[in-house]
Amino acid sequence: DVIDIRSLGKHGVFTYDPGFLSTAACNSNITFIDGEEGLLYYRGYPIEQLAEHCNFMEVSYLLLHGELPNATQTKEFTDTISGSTMLHDQLSNIFRGFRRDAHPMAVMVGVVGSLSAFYFDAMDIRDAKHREISAHRLLAKVPTIAAWSYKYNLGQPFMYPQNHLNYAENFMHMMFATPCETYVPNPVLAKAFERILILHADHEQNASTSTVRLVGSSGANPFACISAGIASLWGPAHGGANEATLKMLEEIGDVSRIGEFIKRAKDKTDTFRLMGFGHRVYRNMDPRAKIMRTTCHEVLDELGLHDDPMFKLAMELEKIALEDEYFVSRKLYPNVDFYSGIVMRAMGIPNSMFTAIFALARTAGWIAQWSEMISDEEHKIGRPRQLYKGNLRRDLVPMDRR
Ligand code: ACO
Repeated sequence: DVIDIRSLGKHGVFTYDPGFLSTAACNSNITFIDGEEGLLYYRGYPIEQLAEHCNFMEVSYLLLHGELPNATQTKEFTDTISGSTMLHDQLSNIFRGFRRDAHPMAVMVGVVGSLSAFYFDAMDIRDAKHREISAHRLLAKVPTIAAWSYKYNLGQPFMYPQNHLNYAENFMHMMFATPCETYVPNPVLAKAFERILILHADHEQNASTSTVRLVGSSGANPFACISAGIASLWGPAHGGANEATLKMLEEIGDVSRIGEFIKRAKDKTDTFRLMGFGHRVYRNMDPRAKIMRTTCHEVLDELGLHDDPMFKLAMELEKIALEDEYFVSRKLYPNVDFYSGIVMRAMGIPNSMFTAIFALARTAGWIAQWSEMISDEEHKIGRPRQLYKGNLRRDLVPMDRR
């Protein structure tokens, strides 16, 4: 008389697709990737053109609104974002509740989530105007939160935004300035940072973006959704690769040891992989990596760092891997994180902030994807199915007989 409760799922056919490798969960008009050809488009525009001609505010506007802004729209949008960069004064108390050595991503998950307790005047997600206000608040405030989480680690006073600076410069000011020392932006570094933001702004339905959509599908507020996206991005298999690349370079330590590590990367009995090489979607060079490679050389030239042992090592590793038959035949090219990690290190940004910077760039994509989903009145609450593999029906044994 045992009922196989697995047979109770008589509700039609469903697919079993762990990791959603071949299941589309939504329609989207935002980003298109052609992994075979190594192409990436935001709203139909090639990433190369956007990185060359636009700033991050224009790209954010494009992701959110579907079209590039004209000059008036750019000014209005930029002014709106600049005007919202301050945090509610009481938010500084939330930072102070964390341990001094808390990882910036841990602080960001908490503080971004707590925005919903401070900015609830415009949280009716059915109202397009309210959605836009929340989108602007997130874009404006996430950099301030990221920079303050770093300042908190250092034990330095929080630096308030300087709204005459552009988005990238303002972030660097909040990270690097102190009350005793003004931060004077270097245009080459500011441009490189702007590129990092543009290249990381969206990448269709990756783990963190899918997380934002899934959380948002229940009607959760946008601050909670972006906080969930940050938590997902924090995982080493997602946003942590640039940090891992730098750790690997530190471990290799010297050009003379590259051969030893390349040998390990090829050895199938060794779990070691060359960090910053390969990509799940791109079977050609990641177009973002090509742009970041050029930017990387511009930054190393500007700072005169080509002879620095760490950067020499990175460039030598890139050269060897690009020529080595193992990597060439498997199409294992350096990815965007290989170069962005090097650029950020050269700019004096600590490893612990790499993923936080990825998060502030990706906020533009997350919020655009969230808005796209909520604006679609047909959208459904996300509810994946499962294959039940557990026990069949059984009767409870009373405590004295267990
Ligand atoms: N070093 C050495 N060998 C590698 C590497 C690597 N980095 N990446 C893949 N390979 C090898 C695999 O061992 C496999 O070899 P085989 O065919 O002889 O068995 C072959 O290349 C194909 O590898 P897969 O594991 O099938 O590739 P997959 O698409 O699953 O993995 C991934 C992609 C996870 C990115 C992988 O290349 C990797 O681990 N790279 C290092 C980590 C990294 O840089 N991640 C960041 C990705 S970019 C981003 O997230 C923005």
